[in-house]
Amino acid sequence: MTMDLHEQARQILRGNDRGGYTLPTHGLYPYQWNWDSAFAAWGFATFDIARAWDEFDTLLASQWDTGMVPHIIFHEVDPSYFPGPDVWSTGQSPATSGISQPPVAATMARLVWEMDKAAGHDRLAEIYPKLVAWHRWWHEVRCVHGPAAIIHPWESGRDNCPDWDIGMDGVDGSRVGPYTRRDTGHVDPSMRPHKEQYDRYIAMVQFGVSVGWDQRQIVADGPFLMADPGITFILLRAHADLIVLGEVLGHDTSEIEGWAAQLRSALPEIWNADLGAYDARNLRNGRFAGVLGSGALLAYVADAGNPTLDEHLIRVWDAVSYGIPSADPQADIFDARRYWRGPSWPFLNALIALGFREMGRHDLDARLRRETAQAIAKNGFAEYFDPHDATACGGANFTWTAAIWLTWAGQDLEHAKGAA
Ligand code: DGY
Repeated sequence: MTMDLHEQARQILRGNDRGGYTLPTHGLYPYQWNWDSAFAAWGFATFDIARAWDEFDTLLASQWDTGMVPHIIFHEVDPSYFPGPDVWSTGQSPATSGISQPPVAATMARLVWEMDKAAGHDRLAEIYPKLVAWHRWWHEVRCVHGPAAIIHPWESGRDNCPDWDIGMDGVDGSRVGPYTRRDTGHVDPSMRPHKEQYDRYIAMVQFGVSVGWDQRQIVADGPFLMADPGITFILLRAHADLIVLGEVLGHDTSEIEGWAAQLRSALPEIWNADLGAYDARNLRNGRFAGVLGSGALLAYVADAGNPTLDEHLIRVWDAVSYGIPSADPQADIFDARRYWRGPSWPFLNALIALGFREMGRHDLDARLRRETAQAIAKNGFAEYFDPHDATACGGANFTWTAAIWLTWAGQDLEHAKGAA
């Protein structure tokens, strides 16, 4: 008999648990990743609320003195991943990468706290100042041009999405020297970024090392600086959640309110009127990317949608069958199975759906949940899916796919049996 999908999801979380932190998946991602971890906490909260709070603790324990929370924490060196701690060379202990990742933690912490307020109160009180310090870092270091900026495509979490192509064009990847990728040894290379992109990713890491990871200098002089609609909306949303949590704890939240107001007032800077959508922007020359990506559609999680964006949403969504595609299926760059250039990502669907529910668009939430659940029930807890036929892509037994099954996607299929 096949196992209940809920039980499978719980087993994936337990299997990826390294005692206080959770791997995204074995092999491909053998460390703690920032935003994966926040989703893991949400998933754990459905059956082990204390373990959910532990996940935030281990993530925030590696916060830099500057307030930045790094995108990877290298708890135990594992040669199956590149680039490892020796390449990043940040001098942190435990070793970490030198960039951040989308700040979803406050939003996930609020969701976890709401699931058991009594159990969460003291745990929340412990992490709250760290979350505030991280948000302050975003405001002071990455939002200096208005919208949230990234200094490396990996910081966006949407590594090779078309948004970054124009910024990547200006990065010289020809002098990085020899290296061996490990990701393509774990999964089908046609589902991963190209080598030319990897060379540039490494060149950007080498620049960070060359300036001792001085974040202000990287923003000022680094090879890549783009405004990211995705992080802008996630941060806006997270500021709002942090304000709620701060009020619950009896803190003065006026500083966070100021950051949120300033960030919202910067939204016109990432609205591309020619495209009729939010758009990534190269902050070195002001140029828009000119492509519709999933970062723009995260507007819904920050209550920043509008009727023009709604038309794009429905157009790209109607063009596929299994959730919201990460790139426009009608654009030349669309690639249905290559990482962030087309596939549907269950955890991102879950995040966008959070926005739909709060707008009162329960019809959109139900559709997205149904399509995401169908992909998972058909082909398992994959990292991402071909949005046309739900082919499983990337890593298997993936933590955030399991987490959003337990918290959202599987909600209508409580007792569904595995499709295998
Ligand atoms: C990878 O290694 O592909 C990661 O996405 C970088 O964070």
